[in-house]
Amino acid sequence: MRENFLPFSPPYIGEEEIEGVVDSLRSGWITTGPKTKRFEADFAAYLGAPAALAVNSCTAALHLGLICNGIGPGDEVITTPLTFAATVGVIEHAGATPVLVDIEPDTMNIDPAAVRAAVTDRTKAVICVHYGGHPCEMDDLQAICDEHDLLLVEDAAHAIPARYRGRLIGSGSNPVAFSFYATKNLTTAEGGMLTGAPEMIDEAIVAHLHGMNRDAWKRGTKSGSWRYDIAMPGFKYNMTDLQAALGLAQLAKLEHMLARRRAIVARYDQGLAPLDAFDLPVEREGCESAWHLYPLRLRDGALKLTRDEFIEELRARNIGTSVHFIAIHTFSYYRRKYGFVPNDFPIAHRESERVVTIPLHPGLSNEDVNDVIEAVADIVKKFRA
Ligand SMILES: Cc1ncc(COP(=O)(O)O)c(C=O)c1O
Repeated sequence: MRENFLPFSPPYIGEEEIEGVVDSLRSGWITTGPKTKRFEADFAAYLGAPAALAVNSCTAALHLGLICNGIGPGDEVITTPLTFAATVGVIEHAGATPVLVDIEPDTMNIDPAAVRAAVTDRTKAVICVHYGGHPCEMDDLQAICDEHDLLLVEDAAHAIPARYRGRLIGSGSNPVAFSFYATKNLTTAEGGMLTGAPEMIDEAIVAHLHGMNRDAWKRGTKSGSWRYDIAMPGFKYNMTDLQAALGLAQLAKLEHMLARRRAIVARYDQGLAPLDAFDLPVEREGCESAWHLYPLRLRDGALKLTRDEFIEELRARNIGTSVHFIAIHTFSYYRRKYGFVPNDFPIAHRESERVVTIPLHPGLSNEDVNDVIEAVADIVKKFRA
């Protein structure tokens, strides 16, 4: 058994990131400034995005994506219950009503047929979540949105870099929100990016910093002005140059980090499939996952222990795990407000109850991966039904 604890997802930080942050500290420019602007430009260029705005979280990017497209009170926004709280929280913040629909069993992404069935006269937008980095069925979702004149917002917290039919997620004109939280494929400790149509990004630039006009961040420079206007009561969603310094260094090694993730996934597939106790993650034809997560789903009746006990057995073997996700409709706020019961979304409920995510990050050595496979195999041997 492994001697030291293997954490679920520590950041992959090298000297480049450290030097970048120190350089910003020495430069005297620590908040939004030239590095943030460079990070936005480089990120947009990498994706081929029409425009990009760096913000302090994916949650902020999602919120801006809704409000800068006029989503507000009286509107319904369709989304998935198998996501992090932020995806649905921002719909509430916009004053709109979240309408949850079930997911597809293989990818655990929102089911386009369920989206279609949920559209009403009040539906104004859909937020799809590329779960674990696997792209949603975008052709189908876009067709439904075009037919009903709906905004399609993409929660790409896990999906950097992911491709759908050859196109990078974030390269189109939909609002797309990325997360650079500490555990994500590209991290700035905390942070996010909104990509999409230039007109929307123009509005988001104002909304994300107090409602100030475009170049307000420059007011401390020689070329900037102390005078500014407030066009709306905006938010405090800006990214700092310290974060952007991390982001620039991480972006430079994104492809390398993805290649390592893919190699680990191949090892996991090879080691875990023969155990015949789990449904393993899939990659659909025409899709390239960003492989943010490796979800294992315990097959019904395969093992004589619950998912929660399985997590404890892994912990006892020094393997860290997580659960993505506790389904949204089972949380007290949403139960209270919308009267949800677990089986309202039977697939999301079932997957949420049997999923465990095991360590997947570029810092894992082959020995670490073998330790995880060995620990899982040991549990299967001990608890096979
Ligand atoms: C699917 C999903 N959406 C949104 C978020 C929110 O990201 P952030 O912490 O950058 O606001 C997360 C974070 O874990 C997430 O997993």
